[in-house]
Amino acid sequence: MPDPHLTFPKDFLFGSATASYQIEGAVSEDGRTPSIWDTFSHTPGKVMNGDTGDRAVDHYHRMPADVALMKELGLQAYRFSVAWPRIQPHGAGAFNSRGIDFYSRLVDELLTADIKPIVTLYHWDLPQELEDAGGWASRATAEAFAPYAASLARALGDRVHVWTTLNEPWCAAYLGYASGVHAPGRTNGADALAAVHHLNLAHGLAIQAIRAELPEAKMSVTHNLHVIRPADPHSEDDLDVVRRLDALGNRAFLEPELEGRYPEDLIADTAKVTDWSFVRDGDLETIHQPLDILGVNYYTTSIARKWDGVSPRTLEDGHKPSEHTAWVGVDDVDFVLEAGRRTRMGWLVDPAGLTELLLRTSKTYPGLPLMVTENGAAFDDTVSEDGQVHDEQRLDYVREHLGAVRDAIDSGADVRGYQLWSLLDNFEWAWGYDRRFGIIRVDYDTQERTIKDSARFYADVIRANTTPA
Ligand code: FCB
Repeated sequence: MPDPHLTFPKDFLFGSATASYQIEGAVSEDGRTPSIWDTFSHTPGKVMNGDTGDRAVDHYHRMPADVALMKELGLQAYRFSVAWPRIQPHGAGAFNSRGIDFYSRLVDELLTADIKPIVTLYHWDLPQELEDAGGWASRATAEAFAPYAASLARALGDRVHVWTTLNEPWCAAYLGYASGVHAPGRTNGADALAAVHHLNLAHGLAIQAIRAELPEAKMSVTHNLHVIRPADPHSEDDLDVVRRLDALGNRAFLEPELEGRYPEDLIADTAKVTDWSFVRDGDLETIHQPLDILGVNYYTTSIARKWDGVSPRTLEDGHKPSEHTAWVGVDDVDFVLEAGRRTRMGWLVDPAGLTELLLRTSKTYPGLPLMVTENGAAFDDTVSEDGQVHDEQRLDYVREHLGAVRDAIDSGADVRGYQLWSLLDNFEWAWGYDRRFGIIRVDYDTQERTIKDSARFYADVIRANTTPA
């Protein structure tokens, strides 16, 4: 009997998500040049255990077999990203047909398997040559994004179900340019805020470029919207911290993209760091493009407090100073680590936060359909004697979060799909291969794939929704 709580609207799209650098490998094949993640991961001390994406899970060579696994699970959609350095090895100028061909074959393979392609244009692997010329702190990078987007629109055309301009520009800007824990590893607050703007601009320019080629294209962007709660809901100071984190994390992207303006409080909060003079006349009109769907990535919630300047700020004391915001002028924030179930990333398991986020977003932007474009969990899996991976904790996480999506739909949110992160264990950025998110296990020595229990559970949910009872 299908679980009635996991029964979804008829056209709800169940799929799974990955990203190019995390799975492809083949970093110097068929004309690909280095991205900022190649450089970063090869810099000693940046990635746990010195791991790199050189080989990753070899998806570039195993793509047809990986699509066959998706089909076996009954996935209806697959969200993947395109590596810009495969398409335009110099970040600008000539396009590389061998790189384009890989994604074209992938899209065909998916369509043959009846799986809808959801294509992300930027999931953090910026061509190194563009970083050398200024990266996202430079306006030229945003301008280079438009011809890159247009080339893919021409090559993949109407075979693509949904186009997503950017994945989590929050991470690209603040982790890449402020705290420096992601590529390119810069620690400069002014650069990070310039990156925020240039990523927003790239988003707008890419939508214009794709629509010029494909007027019917369905356009989206994916954000890791934050659900942040005040440590003390009665404290003005804590509420103000939440407001400032909301401005930096959520409204710095949503307001320009969906309302055509930057939040005034964001400009004021960051005045010590920048005067925002990189925003030029006409930019906000460019950024503010109609969207067909908004992608939401969700993993956890956090609790924040204003730091009083004296009390302890250590993990042992249950506090964590907010590093990325300190670089952009918000330097009195602590995250409070309350007891609760946590994943291997240390992230609190809080499915109610997903319901809250979907409802809040659909209330703020009525009429804009939402899609959960990432949700999932890292746990230390083991292969049992029977050769299987009984990843009960991940299975529970997925079940509970699907239930949370269903709760949001029941309360009126227009949610069109769920893309589970991730299809395969993969290169988890600064954590390398130490954190496994896959519903399919990958043995990193042999590249052997094993379907985990969580994947079988997910396949059952999909089947129950597609097969009349
Ligand atoms: C998100 C990223 C994705 C993956 C998950 C765990 O922030 O978009 O690539 O690393 O986190």
